[in-house]
Amino acid sequence: MILSGESKLAGVVGWPVAHSRSPRLHGYWLKRYGVDGAYVPLPVKPAAFESALRLLAELGFRGVNVTVPLKAAALDACDRVDPTARRIGAVNTIVMKGGRLEGSNTDGFGFLENLRQGAPGWRPAAAPAVVLGAGGAARAVVAALLDAGAPQVRLLNRTAARAEALAGDLGGAVEVSDWAERAERLDGAGLLVNTTSLGMTGQPPLDLELSRLPAEALVTDIVYAPLDTALLAAARARGHPVVDGLGMLLHQARPGFEAWFGVAPEVTAELRAFVLSD
Ligand code: ATR
Repeated sequence: MILSGESKLAGVVGWPVAHSRSPRLHGYWLKRYGVDGAYVPLPVKPAAFESALRLLAELGFRGVNVTVPLKAAALDACDRVDPTARRIGAVNTIVMKGGRLEGSNTDGFGFLENLRQGAPGWRPAAAPAVVLGAGGAARAVVAALLDAGAPQVRLLNRTAARAEALAGDLGGAVEVSDWAERAERLDGAGLLVNTTSLGMTGQPPLDLELSRLPAEALVTDIVYAPLDTALLAAARARGHPVVDGLGMLLHQARPGFEAWFGVAPEVTAELRAFVLSD
């Protein structure tokens, strides 16, 4: 990569940040579209977060992605935050313009775009969605499903209080059930989403009986390591359409790349293979 005095700069801020796949992903697009720019990992301790953002804006950075554990802090650090990020309670994308920091959250967009690309026949408004988990990822997923017209979101989490808090914050047609009822709540659903860490490499498996899930229901997992989780394999074996979680990561990156570098990038099979070959 050859840079110039005009190179457009962006990056990902987190602590730690070495695990982030974003530099590889954005680096692929920069090369693919021939952009004079760079996207770099920026390890920043939480205590230095706000001053680091101001300094990056001062240095001419076009913006940054924000990752754990700074997504909630980014809400306060920005000069302006869009309504979706405010509702979710987290910012993952910052655009820097004339020294101002504009925050948004593209995780829900990434989630929906991944399903639209991977399962074009799925209609969010056609049937209730079942969402397992109530962490940060679940907030973005539930908000996106409500905005897409889901008639009901059934939310189940091991810690019921967290699900209640999420439902209270987001409002709308969110119905909380006990974690123990997860198999029964699949009745009549059009979508099942795992946003818990269950099934991730090194974590316990997700224990869920799928027999009540209608045959045409779409199943997706935001876990992408492994790519083919036990949940997706079991759903596929029962004939359900399935979409893996890698696409959410790839699609959430699109709005930032376009805002910083001026090209609307595409998520392709080649990009998926490149990010996976890490
Ligand atoms: P993220 O922000 O990435 O969603 P998180 O806030 O750590 O991550 O949330 C992880 C989710 O996985 C939570 O819903 C968590 O349930 P709790 O709220 O009860 O902690 C869920 N989870 C993690 N381990 C679990 C387990 N062994 N059984 C059931 N749910 C689990």
